[in-house]
Amino acid sequence: MNQEIANFDYYNPTHIVFGKDRLKELATLIPQGKKVLLLYGGGSVVRFGTLDKVKQALSGFELGEFGGIEANPTFETLSKAIELVKAEGYDFLLAVGGGSVIDGTKFVASAAKFDGDPLDIFGNGVGAGRPVTSALPFGTVLTLPATGSEMNSGAVITIKAKKAKVSFGSAVTFPVFSILDPELTYTLPARQLANGVIDAFVHIMEQYMTYPVGAMVQDRYAEGLLQTLIEIGPDVIKEDLHDYNLRANFMWTATNALNGTLNKGVPQDWASHSLGHEITALYGIDHARTLAIVLPALLSVRKQEKREKLLQYAERVWQITEGDAEERIDAAIVKTGQFFEVLGAGTHFSDYNLGEEVVEALVSQLSDHKLTAISERGDQTLEVSREIYRKAL
Ligand code: NZQ
Ligand code: ZN
Repeated sequence: MNQEIANFDYYNPTHIVFGKDRLKELATLIPQGKKVLLLYGGGSVVRFGTLDKVKQALSGFELGEFGGIEANPTFETLSKAIELVKAEGYDFLLAVGGGSVIDGTKFVASAAKFDGDPLDIFGNGVGAGRPVTSALPFGTVLTLPATGSEMNSGAVITIKAKKAKVSFGSAVTFPVFSILDPELTYTLPARQLANGVIDAFVHIMEQYMTYPVGAMVQDRYAEGLLQTLIEIGPDVIKEDLHDYNLRANFMWTATNALNGTLNKGVPQDWASHSLGHEITALYGIDHARTLAIVLPALLSVRKQEKREKLLQYAERVWQITEGDAEERIDAAIVKTGQFFEVLGAGTHFSDYNLGEEVVEALVSQLSDHKLTAISERGDQTLEVSREIYRKAL
């Protein structure tokens, strides 16, 4: 296995506008004369007044609205937004919400300019997987720190008709700007705050917990972000604790966890996400909670493949220095599961009233979506994935 840092390009054009009261700068971030479609979710931004503030800030623009983008945004709902954009000629999109609204907006922006059936934007057995080469420009107002979608070019979309949850990405689907106001997180319930901490944690792990290539900056950066989440996580989930710095640190950690910095030149796994997406597709469990189920089991099953990094993680992230190598690895895996549990996320299928029946159903989904050789070495076969699902029962 190559033990050197691989060649890489680092490109991230998203303008981050971070801090209190920045919404009022919206009009300076969108070019004058644009016809803007505001996209949002199930209504939280209406209830908590964020949408009104956005409209006020953009009073000089021609505006339209598309609400109702659900958590785990669906192709079916987004298709209606695509029609609207085409019929009304919107030429700038503004996502106001969490990862689902932002991902949905990336898809609408891409599909509006896509030549052919938008389903072909997806691969994984869903469509032809043709590249997205142009997209409408869009910005975001982030209301939920979790996915990093506000500063990356990826999106995950559910195709209900196919029971599939698949991703796409391209160099043209970075947001032009993202407004990150930590005070917008004050209305989040504990469950979504916990989801955010867990999702960010696992994003870091997907890019860190592989095998060492001597990437000191990427490793230390990942370890610093993990330690930050471990330190602040238990306070972040206190929904009434409106401590500005606490939420600001949370927000910026979640963005950095998946803005394309950690993965540069290093191997990446993403198997926890692949296995997790199938759980959401079949059983509707929140994205982050599927990761809380999969990651501890995956680390146990893949102990040998990830041995060196697990030892590094045990020592540097959890300060575990006692015991032999096997004991230290086991202790780090236990700590990881306990961290998710402290945040209120069950780490077994049984915590979600699911049993043995899930294993073959999920393995069959992986097979349908051609996820038969995943992880950092491409050696996670269906057999290994089956073992991981079993371990998580
Ligand atoms: O829909 P509304 O009414 O707005 O309510 C939302 C939703 O019910 C609510 N919410 C958001 N901001 C709020 C708020 N409630 C009160 N106050 C606020 N400030 O939270 C609920 C969940 O929102 P959602 O956007 O679904 O959550 P999240 O940001 O965790 O996004 C999850 C989606 O992102 C995908 C996931 O697969 C999932 O579909 N991911 C996207 C990634 C990417 N683009 O890079 C990477 C991730 O790994 C992930 O897969
Ligand atoms: Zn995720």
